[in-house]
Amino acid sequence: MSKLAALGGTVTVPTDRRHVPWPLVQDEDRKAVLDALDGARLVSDTDGVNPVSALEEGWARRFGFEHCVAVSNGTAALSLALAALGVGPGDEVIVPALSFIATGLAPVHQMAAPVFADIDPVTFNIDPDDVERRITARTKAIIPVHLHGAPADMDRITEIARKHGIAVIEDAAQAPGATHRGRPVGGIGDAGAFSLQVSKNIPTCGEGGLLVTRDAELAEAMRRGRQFGEVIEAGRERDYISYGLGWNHKMNALQAAFTIAQLDRYEEYERARQHNVTEFLARLAQLPGLRVPTALPDTTHAWHILRFRFDPAAFGLDGVRPEALRGTLRRLLRAEGVPMSQYQLMPLPDQKVFVDRAGFGSGYPWSVTGAPGTVAGEDYPVTRAVIADSLTLQKRHLHPGAGELLGLYADAFEKVWANRDMVATFAKAAS
Ligand SMILES: Cc1ncc(COP(=O)(O)O)c(C=O)c1O
Repeated sequence: MSKLAALGGTVTVPTDRRHVPWPLVQDEDRKAVLDALDGARLVSDTDGVNPVSALEEGWARRFGFEHCVAVSNGTAALSLALAALGVGPGDEVIVPALSFIATGLAPVHQMAAPVFADIDPVTFNIDPDDVERRITARTKAIIPVHLHGAPADMDRITEIARKHGIAVIEDAAQAPGATHRGRPVGGIGDAGAFSLQVSKNIPTCGEGGLLVTRDAELAEAMRRGRQFGEVIEAGRERDYISYGLGWNHKMNALQAAFTIAQLDRYEEYERARQHNVTEFLARLAQLPGLRVPTALPDTTHAWHILRFRFDPAAFGLDGVRPEALRGTLRRLLRAEGVPMSQYQLMPLPDQKVFVDRAGFGSGYPWSVTGAPGTVAGEDYPVTRAVIADSLTLQKRHLHPGAGELLGLYADAFEKVWANRDMVATFAKAAS
């Protein structure tokens, strides 16, 4: 048994083999951006085809969406979708208790109150039963998040939404390319929002977002919303008339051109990623007390983030607090060169912005809806358990050539598990 790096043994992942860049910037990307710069169509409101409209068409064609509207980022995409669907003051929007903060902020940007629902312990996505429990007369929309790239239970969610007459906006920021029963996520609900932020599976060189929908009228409302409420039509001179409330949520041509070039290589990258991640997870699945992320039957997982849960009892550490085991494993794996990290330190409702009911003016939207305020530490037992007993791997596995590195990561996990007595000593002391 080899000695743990934390105790002076050899480090499993040598420093010079740790660096895997993401995004992967190649000559095609550089050329695309420079061509766009020389192309004189730098914004989306220019007449005719421009890189922004080309990205919208390319994205829709690649994944099978009917309408696609490019915007400045994924948060703006969520806000615009809510606005286009008529969600506003006095409304409630149900969102998962585990997500990136933007999912909870977007309703507040429309002066609607987010209402948090607990998650499923396996997919880490919103629990449809808890959604149903939290529906009130004020509920106007549900935002299921396909967290980490795993599709949410869209059958149940769309059924609940239909029954109660409420809208579904998919937060697919982390899940381009993921499918649920053969359908691309983002295209199942009324609207879907993607992020192209630089760390995402299909990135831009900075910030960007995309909205998709089957509904032509909704797409038009989103287009007006991103452009000051104006109607921009090919062949018609811009009239500068604002037909409704709008924002400036436009994407620029350089960001669009970069993503078009990345989209051309997406299939090749995705194939490699599926292969690398599947092999890696198959090795880790052999280790007792370690629960690896899985793709449910009839779904494709985009593997944006890999979340691992640790079970003290199955590890032979009955009575040890999950946080103590998680903290110990984090230290030992990081010492071996595996960059294990926590993704989300608390349930969304515990975020200070929501506990304080921060908003606009005299406490809007909270004072309008009288929506259940959140109290730190209250409720959401599954979300709390997942945060307490899990760690994540981010970004390193996205590179198509990451297979070898993931092999070293697996060696490191196996080494730490071979030293389980030592892990037990540390975890018991921490507990
Ligand atoms: C689940 C989720 N929703 C929304 C967003 C917001 O996207 P953006 O950063 O492009 O605004 C992100 C970004 O990380 C995300 O992960």
